[in-house]
Amino acid sequence: KTRAAIITCGGLCPGLNDVIRSITMVLWYRYGVRNILGLRYGYEGLNPDFHHNPIQLNPDVVEDIHQKGGTILGSSRGPQDVGVMVDYLQEMQIDILFTVGGDGTQRGALDLVEEISRRGAKIAVIGIPKTIDNDISCTERTFGFQTAVALSQPSIDSAHMEAKAVRNGVGLVKLMGRDSGFVAAYASLASSDVNLLLVPEVSFSLPKVMHFLEERLKQKSHAVIVVAEGSGKELLPPDGQDASGNEILGDIGVFLKHAIQAHFRQNGRPVSVKYIDPSYTIRSARANADDSVFCFRLAENAVHAAMAGKTGMVVGLWNGHFVDIPSIEAVRQRKKIDPSSSLWTSILDNTGQPDLI
Ligand code: F6P
Repeated sequence: KTRAAIITCGGLCPGLNDVIRSITMVLWYRYGVRNILGLRYGYEGLNPDFHHNPIQLNPDVVEDIHQKGGTILGSSRGPQDVGVMVDYLQEMQIDILFTVGGDGTQRGALDLVEEISRRGAKIAVIGIPKTIDNDISCTERTFGFQTAVALSQPSIDSAHMEAKAVRNGVGLVKLMGRDSGFVAAYASLASSDVNLLLVPEVSFSLPKVMHFLEERLKQKSHAVIVVAEGSGKELLPPDGQDASGNEILGDIGVFLKHAIQAHFRQNGRPVSVKYIDPSYTIRSARANADDSVFCFRLAENAVHAAMAGKTGMVVGLWNGHFVDIPSIEAVRQRKKIDPSSSLWTSILDNTGQPDLI
């Protein structure tokens, strides 16, 4: 009698509930598995000290959970003691653990695999890569990414409307992505209103940004900027305050807002900057239809991999095919935008922005 368990780890991401639902459905209907545990709050759920009682999952419990964002299991960041976690898995007689999370989670899963094999135990660990950031290598796409790109459009539309409604209006939108700019880049390509995109992979200087804005405002009297959250880290003041004492607390969006206002005030040509940060609204939303399908197919493949006796693997998409990738490969390095790629050329062409390097 197979006993399976699922954990969701790290920041929220559209599609988490789809994955929980799909794993449960495939285990239940395709393989007849009746013992499916939803462990609570990420790796904490594998540490009995937290007293997080697992949820017994079945088709009735998961029936409509994909209609909501978030995760019914809860989440947490960071690993727990690997010995304690494997003790728990053995005590609960779990045969398969599905780890739904980003690269930190899959690294944690690798530690579990190592400890399980050291003990000579037979517990399969299969990862499903999750992040809106799309920064996991060895898969063309992570679930949640496409929903995040789609849900960023209303913010960019609003930034454009606000900027256009006044003379010298600047709409500034910050989008998540940790150290990669994929969400910001695709969101900018999807919109025709972005004039300047700042991503972590392409360094920029404030004078160049200001020069671009001056020219743009002279010509069009409004501008839209999208900034990825990990951009311009070297520009942020270490004490969390800008030169005028504004609290910016490491937020590149807030920093840019104040920097642009200060620059144009000094120039005697004040601008109105409207700053929009939709980060948590986006990542806590439910998945769009395309991501829901993707989640189902990832989950289905994860279950097949586990039932075929595989372990230490994550599922991914490569050249249009669903594949199992050794977790060690999946976490080797994070994917980033290559500034010499055609993606970046498309951005420069689409936004009309000069290369700011
Ligand atoms: O990795 C997902 C993500 O949403 C990143 O885009 C972001 O940098 C990070 O998590 C923020 O997480 P939190 O606010 O939960 O610390």
